[in-house]
Amino acid sequence: MSFRLQPASPARPNRCQLFGPGSNTKLFPKMAASAADVINLDLEDSVAPNDKAQARRNIIAASHEIDWNSKYLSVRINGLDTPYWYRDVVELLEEGSERIDQIMIPKVGCAADVYAVDALVTAIETAKGRKKKISFEVIIESAAGIAHVEEIAASSPRLQAMSLGAADFAASMGMQTTGIGGTQENYYMLREGAKYWSDPWHWAQTSIVAACRTHGILPVDGPFGDFSDDEGFRAQALRSATLGMVGKWAIHPKQIALANEVFTPSEAAVNEAREILAAMQEATARGEGATVYKGRLVDIASIKQAEVIVRQAEMIKN
Ligand code: COA
Ligand code: MG
Repeated sequence: MSFRLQPASPARPNRCQLFGPGSNTKLFPKMAASAADVINLDLEDSVAPNDKAQARRNIIAASHEIDWNSKYLSVRINGLDTPYWYRDVVELLEEGSERIDQIMIPKVGCAADVYAVDALVTAIETAKGRKKKISFEVIIESAAGIAHVEEIAASSPRLQAMSLGAADFAASMGMQTTGIGGTQENYYMLREGAKYWSDPWHWAQTSIVAACRTHGILPVDGPFGDFSDDEGFRAQALRSATLGMVGKWAIHPKQIALANEVFTPSEAAVNEAREILAAMQEATARGEGATVYKGRLVDIASIKQAEVIVRQAEMIKN
């Protein structure tokens, strides 16, 4: 480990972030009753320009009236290139209840974007005497966002989570696809005439995970557009979990159980992790730094790997 220790990320479950348009109030009670860990009420791209003002009113009312239970309640504001975002922040924090936990900032391109929102949020919190400090999540969904991902991850102590937004990301990068995440027909390798599909989202995901882990932030996989394709969602989510992401968005309630299943460590995985920890404890007692578990090497690094799984499982159980 470097002299500069890797900070822990927030200890709260973030397996599934369920989205719903701020203009569609009939979804709100269903979202509150769902099995998602995080609720993202949207003011941005799922809300038409003429509905923005009403969507703000709806979300403010819902923050007072709906029992959000233990959900982490997040509101996605409009991007800093729009005329809407400042009113989103001002109205939400002047009139919304203390139940709101987080503001999600879309299309972040540099650390200064986060700084601007932080300055406004801090001023309103102080002026209004709000007790709960609002946290931030950002969406990396542009060429600038991924190019500056590390400075963005370091931008504010309010920052708790960072998502990859595949659709806007693909558009900004000029990628030839209209799919939202998942396998891309034209992204393959050829060997002896057979096609092998590869993962065009991989490098963006790993860049986000590395920036997030460096700064103690939760890395999250964004939307999977085809909500009729359960296996496609599961495959994408399994890859994200393997790379170190902690959760994934749901844009339809069908996707909640899938995300929870993938991002909750399985009983078998937790048992194996506990066995590795026990094997290493015995090895340490014998004065050894490495030992054999089920025919394979485990050493001090294995303790850390096993602890990731056990910690995740225990946090979800609590
Ligand atoms: N949260 C909670 N419940 C939802 C929901 C959501 N996001 N989306 C749909 N439902 C409910 C429906 O109200 C319906 O409930 P019912 O059985 O009580 O009638 C049920 O789930 C089945 O919905 P379905 O008919 O399959 O979908 P739909 O046509 O009503 O809505 C979408 C489809 C995609 C428009 C809708 O899911 C949606 O708005 N998703 C979120 C989009 C979003 O926020 N995008 C921004 C981030 S990318
Ligand atoms: Mg987007």
